[in-house]
Amino acid sequence: MDLYEYQARDLFEKYGVPVLAGIVADTPEEVKAAAEKIGGVVVVKAQVKVGGRGKAGGVKVAKTPEEAYEAAKAILGLDIKGHVVKRVMVAAGARIAEEFYFSVLLDRANRSYLSLCSVEGGMEIEQLAVEKPEALARVEVNALSGIDKAKAVEIARAANFPEELVDKVSDVFVTLYDVYKGEGATLVEVNPLVRTEDGDIIALDGKVTLDDNASEVRHPEHEELADKASEDPLEAKAKASGLNYVKLDGEVGIIGNGAGLVMSTLDVVAYAGESHGNVKPANFLDIGGGANAQVMANGLDVILGDAQVKSVFVNVFGGITSCVAVAEGIVKALEILGDAATKPLVVRLDGNQVEEGRAILAAANHPLVTLAATMDEGADKAAELANA
Ligand SMILES: Nc1ncnc2c1ncn2[C@@H]1O[C@H](COP(=O)(O)OP(=O)(O)O)[C@@H](O)[C@H]1O
Ligand SMILES: [Mg+2]
Repeated sequence: MDLYEYQARDLFEKYGVPVLAGIVADTPEEVKAAAEKIGGVVVVKAQVKVGGRGKAGGVKVAKTPEEAYEAAKAILGLDIKGHVVKRVMVAAGARIAEEFYFSVLLDRANRSYLSLCSVEGGMEIEQLAVEKPEALARVEVNALSGIDKAKAVEIARAANFPEELVDKVSDVFVTLYDVYKGEGATLVEVNPLVRTEDGDIIALDGKVTLDDNASEVRHPEHEELADKASEDPLEAKAKASGLNYVKLDGEVGIIGNGAGLVMSTLDVVAYAGESHGNVKPANFLDIGGGANAQVMANGLDVILGDAQVKSVFVNVFGGITSCVAVAEGIVKALEILGDAATKPLVVRLDGNQVEEGRAILAAANHPLVTLAATMDEGADKAAELANA
């Protein structure tokens, strides 16, 4: 789960990372009040889970509460890379002398942690990595020893911090690692980490990604950080029934068993769609091993709830779960859904007890169900029906 900047700021504060005052607000009036409370120059910052807010006009300096009010009016409702701003943070204004970059993240490829650090912060790190790779230090961090003071000093020196700043920034790196470890994060990024004109080192922006696997077990309190309001309602519904579902932007609903099969089904449907009005897969849905009637009904219910869906392709390979169980599951699911099932279903079964499974579907002879012999044929039929 990615956090909003204000949530990252709060976590930083809890772990002793130096941050400035920040108050979230949803209306220009609240922004004005927050600016009065903080006093002096403030910065009004769009709270959206996407980078580059500054360049997109989502970060504005305000010298007075009235200016903050106007800034809020300009920022609230703004569309930043497809994310509409519903909330802002009013932050105390920093007098910036220099901007740096620091992050620590899970480096899956090397089965390790990695710290990236640069004295050239502010600009997007992907851009820095391409344009000036030599300015970006990459320091491997052992997951057991983490970032202690010595490691933090090593990172600061690798990034070419001037010697007189090494002690101060390395203290901040240690606290940022405390956030990373303490919260079970896979990313803690600060861009920019600044030196103010008064010589303080402060985290002015924060991006934190929490590891959902860690949250479930070790941090039940993370549940409160989830953004229920902007969660996709279908994804929320699927989550509530324990389904592995991702909404996509297409017309052919997909149900399969096993992530690999579902992934290849998406490819095959997208390819077939090229011959049928460019229809595309509407979702990823893996019903896993135990594809019983209730699981199938829950899956179909979620997919049929997607107004964009025009047809559904059920692509199941019977393994431990036989095709008989799957076929019975589909028949019962259609019974459970009754009138709620309104869209054509193309079913391709293969594997364990395939003949018996197909026979069950053939005997049920449901008007919405079409049987397909192969995956390609099924994808083609489903795409055709979605385009009809
Ligand atoms: N509290 C602040 N005081 C002064 N300047 C700020 C403050 N917050 C952000 N800025 C300036 O705005 C720039 C962009 O803000 P940032 O929070 O990094 O958003 P983003 O990375 O989404 O563009 C920063 O690089 C910094 O120069
Ligand atoms: Mg930033």
